[in-house]
Amino acid sequence: MSSDHVLKFPPGFLWGAATSPTQIEGHIENEWTNFVAQDGSNCLVACDSYHRHPEDIAWLSKLGINAYRFGLEWSRLQSSPFAPLNQNELARYVDLLDKLRAANITPMVVLHHFSNPPWINAAGGWTNPATIAAFVDYVRKLVAALKGKVILWNTFNEPDTYACVGYLLGGFPPQRKWKLGQFRRVVAHMAAAHVKASRVIRREGIFAGRKPEVGIAKNWTFFHAYKRFSPWDRLTALACHYTFNKFVLDAFLGGFRRRASTFIGLNYYGCVRFHHFRAMIPASGTPIRELKDFGFVCDDMVERYPEGMEKILVYLRRKFRLPIYITEHGCASADEKFRELDLLQNLAALHRSMQNSVDVRGFFYWSLMDNFEWQFGYTKKFGLLAVDFADPKLPRTPKPLAEVYSKICRDNSVRG
Ligand code: BGC
Repeated sequence: MSSDHVLKFPPGFLWGAATSPTQIEGHIENEWTNFVAQDGSNCLVACDSYHRHPEDIAWLSKLGINAYRFGLEWSRLQSSPFAPLNQNELARYVDLLDKLRAANITPMVVLHHFSNPPWINAAGGWTNPATIAAFVDYVRKLVAALKGKVILWNTFNEPDTYACVGYLLGGFPPQRKWKLGQFRRVVAHMAAAHVKASRVIRREGIFAGRKPEVGIAKNWTFFHAYKRFSPWDRLTALACHYTFNKFVLDAFLGGFRRRASTFIGLNYYGCVRFHHFRAMIPASGTPIRELKDFGFVCDDMVERYPEGMEKILVYLRRKFRLPIYITEHGCASADEKFRELDLLQNLAALHRSMQNSVDVRGFFYWSLMDNFEWQFGYTKKFGLLAVDFADPKLPRTPKPLAEVYSKICRDNSVRG
């Protein structure tokens, strides 16, 4: 790509940033409250966005970002099954939405992002089919309360990651290992809840003739064998592909269920290659030094694979013929030049897919700020803004990538 080549995006394209409640808000009571991450940290205060959402919105504005994907925390809003919504907590989210509107920033609301209220967890979480009705009741009340304020609804964030890391790998609460039956049940129940919740949102969320849009955010990871002729690693990669990509996509979008979504949210980061059954990525503990010797290009989490962005977009378009939002893409590294290159390469691949008739409506950078990265605590830094966690005031400071992204958002184009 020559440096004077400009990739233009269509008018109205959403240039966003994404966050989630447990990772930024603090002061939450859910299954993460007592969770201690690998670095010894917890999410009790996180970025304290619970008290600082006006400041966070001001940052979005300053950066010229025109969309914000964030979550509503179910545990704040309902204290028991079928209870009325907590009006004080609701008022805070309404204030957030009103402030976004005043700043001309389009919200995309996420209803489930790796956390549940304690009373749901006590009853077995998503392994229990009763959770479906409780969730749909919650959604119905929210839709009534937020009518006219939200058009873009994201029901579930990465049900694949949630079920896999919680029930197969043991990294997320409830930290179960190799419970394949429970993994499948969680996915199936979430998929059933998505269909029902979508019906409620689309029927009851129409406002002034504007129809709500509904979709899940599916993480897509490519799985490969490091050595093409290693049968065991190929088999492992295939098993991962079937379990995390195919099974989950079919559960949510297969057959008649496709009609429950008006868009697909894609969270795309990169790929994982297996070598002697080992996932060769920093996130599963393979040291970066060793990965470099093998010639892997990784951020602090997974192998980078920008061509994959185009491949998966074209595949999703062919298979489902739905509009797509990139609900997350990001890169965790202290090397800002590396992050910039990663962003530009992924956006170029995204742009190519659009030239190839894929209908992509927006891109949300993960994440607006450094935050609590689940089992890794504060060690993986995805932010456009740095947060100084050693300072009780938790000041936010833009990193060099924020300047780069800001220019992209303002110009609605990327310089190749
Ligand atoms: C999740 C985020 C997470 C990010 C980076 C996605 O899987 O939705 O919550 O922080 O990836 O790992």
